[in-house]
Amino acid sequence: MIRRYEFGKVLETEAILEKPEQAEGAVPYLQVDEAKRSLLYEMGEKDRVYGLGENLRGINKRGWIYESRCTDDPEHMEDKRALYGAHNFLVVDGQDQFGVFIDYPGILSFDVGYTRCNQLKIQLSDWNMDLYVITGENVRDIVRQFRRLIGRSYIPPLWAFGYGQSRWGYKSEDDVREVVRRHRELQIPLDSVYLDIDYMERYKDFTVNQETFPDFADFCGEMKRQHIHLVPIIDAGVKQEEGYPVYEEGMEKGYFCKKEDGSPFVAAVWPGKALFPDMLNEEARRWFGNQYQFLLDQGIEGFWNDMNEPAIFYTEDRLRQVMEELESYKGRNLDLDTFFSFTNLVQSLSNNTEDYKEFYHEFHGEKVRHDRVHNLFGFNMTRAAGEAFERLVPEKRILMFSRSSYIGMHRYGGIWQGDNRSWWSHLLLNIKMMPSLNMCGFLYTGADLGGFGADTTEDLLLRWLAFGIFTPLMRNHSAMGTREQEVYRFEKTEGFRHIIGLRYRLIPYLYSEYMKAVLRDEMMFRPLAFDYPSDAYAAQVEDQLLLGEELMLAPVYEQNKEGRYVYLPEEMKMVRFSEDGTVEEKILPAGHHYVKVPLTDVVFFLRPNRLIPFADVAQNVDEIDFEHPGVLAFVREEACYEYYRDNGYEKDYENPAHFHRICLKKGESSPTVF
Ligand code: GLC
Repeated sequence: MIRRYEFGKVLETEAILEKPEQAEGAVPYLQVDEAKRSLLYEMGEKDRVYGLGENLRGINKRGWIYESRCTDDPEHMEDKRALYGAHNFLVVDGQDQFGVFIDYPGILSFDVGYTRCNQLKIQLSDWNMDLYVITGENVRDIVRQFRRLIGRSYIPPLWAFGYGQSRWGYKSEDDVREVVRRHRELQIPLDSVYLDIDYMERYKDFTVNQETFPDFADFCGEMKRQHIHLVPIIDAGVKQEEGYPVYEEGMEKGYFCKKEDGSPFVAAVWPGKALFPDMLNEEARRWFGNQYQFLLDQGIEGFWNDMNEPAIFYTEDRLRQVMEELESYKGRNLDLDTFFSFTNLVQSLSNNTEDYKEFYHEFHGEKVRHDRVHNLFGFNMTRAAGEAFERLVPEKRILMFSRSSYIGMHRYGGIWQGDNRSWWSHLLLNIKMMPSLNMCGFLYTGADLGGFGADTTEDLLLRWLAFGIFTPLMRNHSAMGTREQEVYRFEKTEGFRHIIGLRYRLIPYLYSEYMKAVLRDEMMFRPLAFDYPSDAYAAQVEDQLLLGEELMLAPVYEQNKEGRYVYLPEEMKMVRFSEDGTVEEKILPAGHHYVKVPLTDVVFFLRPNRLIPFADVAQNVDEIDFEHPGVLAFVREEACYEYYRDNGYEKDYENPAHFHRICLKKGESSPTVF
């Protein structure tokens, strides 16, 4: 049951397409304190709190304070409160069981037992919101109802389930050719190469550097013949430069965000001074979306939208003030007080929340200050693209994922988990974030495998890939200046080929699971507690995940480990894939086990009476035989799998012809397909 309560003058975020009528009576569970702009809930000692999408820390969010404040912060550490997305949905599971969604575009915080151990406090910046309280049979049911409310998640083209190689620093056609050549030569499967800002002409959106990519359309064709899709980045800031058509047209039509006095708001990002298209203004959004045509026309079928929190290096105004203030430090003896205020001054230039108060949007016909709708910017940039694709290439599925997001954006694209580091702790963070993101509708997601910032190591990359083969977005991405981390830079070529090859064997299953999760508002990745609610130990496990109804994953996420402890809530079949091609299957009883996982092995667990389709290795998605997969099964009596299969490019998602059944009975050697 979903109850909606409206407070103040709601700013329509469009997170929800059809709002239910307002509920009558008092809000259940929560104490509403309008004067303090807060909602309170007294948690039981053992209550768990799930959700909040893209954020730090655990699957159970208890014991910290989180903020919904889309932010460009590459330091994903435990002391932080916010990342790039704002996903205001959580579920309390304990003495009471209910979901809460705060549909509110401004900045808010969720104090989940941080100030007081047993108190959940939601604090808003102003008092205008739609509050949803959802109850149901169990946690999965609550999440399903929420997902139905926010609408169907985005569906990418099939090739986007292949392996992607990315690096900030591929500067030319030849750099890209080299990446492809090395993968093909070593028979390491690959479906896409990402183009970071280096492909543009001086970081100008919707341009291509003519010197380094002299014939872009031709090059796209050349890549496509090798089954490679190029995926260019698009940034939120449009370079301020006379003669650059996107800038000039945006200025002429008044489509950029403005300051209070109506003059353009100038902030710097990669290209230096830039302007932000007013993504919240329908007309400007349409105009920005139309710009993607330039790349679609050249054969591009996928994009990633970046810097759309929006990230700000500095604003023209703040830079001027800081420069002036710095002058006053000249010649002074900087001591304890002055030295830090001096260095802070320069640091205060970037992503300063005060700058969000300096510009305005035209939002549903009203002038609204940015900070009040801050969390909607990335959403609407991606919506601009998604709506444009529907207009410009309605017959096609286009790959789209974004860095910043708000619930609602999940209908237009996926997200990647931003600028993580090559740290083992960030592999674990990647694992923990998957279910929370799924709860909020973000199914097409994954982290930068191997880590974006800092230098990776071969073992970290192997372990990260061994988890990444299960995430819908599987992309190796790294920052300029870090150790090169394409898999061919390392020694264990066999191991990499084996692990990435396994991804391709699993794609029929993963794609099928993805589609069913989307079409039925299910989570593809779930914490153990969601499926084994009466198992008190399962509720404690945060480093294992359920995938679909069939698998349990228990990734290794620590260095120099030859295995790990795994908890089995019930009897399961362990399946081990080794580099030499052997597949070991072994039934393990419920309980605790130490499972050996050598560096290039992949291990997962099959639940009883379940099976998954399992294809042969392919070098790219086009080569996968989806029609005649083999199976991996744990049959006690009979295992059946509902296999979703379409051609991966058309949009008749619901066609019953896409649903098949594969069944295997005890004693049978080959399955029956219906
Ligand atoms: C941002 C993105 C990162 C990208 C870089 C350069 O940091 O998050 O993925 O490589 O910008 O464009």
